Amino acid sequence: MLVSPSLLSADFGHLAQDLDMINRSEAHYLHLDVMDGVFVPNISFGFPVMKHVHDLCNKPLDVHLMIVEPQKFVTQVRDCGASIMTVHQEACTHLNRVVQQIKDAGMQAGVALNPATPVAMLRDIIADVDLVLLMSVNPGFGGQRFIPGTLRKVCELRQLISEQGSQAVIEVDGGVNAETGAQLAKAGCEVAVAGNYVFKSPDPHEAIHSLAAL
Ligand code: DX5
Ligand code: ZN
Repeated sequence: MLVSPSLLSADFGHLAQDLDMINRSEAHYLHLDVMDGVFVPNISFGFPVMKHVHDLCNKPLDVHLMIVEPQKFVTQVRDCGASIMTVHQEACTHLNRVVQQIKDAGMQAGVALNPATPVAMLRDIIADVDLVLLMSVNPGFGGQRFIPGTLRKVCELRQLISEQGSQAVIEVDGGVNAETGAQLAKAGCEVAVAGNYVFKSPDPHEAIHSLAAL
């Protein structure tokens, strides 16, 4: 699988050190969780941090916006160096327009679903998106337990993607470790986001490798 370590679990007192580890690792992306305290019950970091991370990181930035009205920030996210901009389906009244805006800005467009949102909600947008992020925990915090029903959603999404002739890749975010990662890879997940499993590990390179090898 492709691996996207989530910066939320990094040591914010020593970010440069953690980013150096990421740069030297087998990770394919770096996952950035932006939270606004409204869409999710937590606040993380914003554009100034993203900009510095982009300067220090040689992996493409996979930006996951857990905010209301994400359409307001497309240009700013692009200017911070994001390669993928993912918005929540639940946060977008005009999802089709937001997806087009993200692509017009030169980024790959991702759409995220909360655990309680069915995959079927994506039927009429799936052909236009580059990535679907299935949340396997309720968004807002790192270190939560993987919700097993996500595995069924990965299978349903795989079927929807092929039915609709979509090129979208499947990313799963929350509670990913060696065990849940193996189950996800088997179900058809292509990108694994991992926060605690990577950054709280005594050997982050090995943790990344264990997922990349699946
Ligand atoms: C949760 C975030 C995740 C989180 C994952 O709202 O979207 O990206 O950082 O952390 P772990 O892998 O520790 O569950
Ligand atoms: Zn995330």
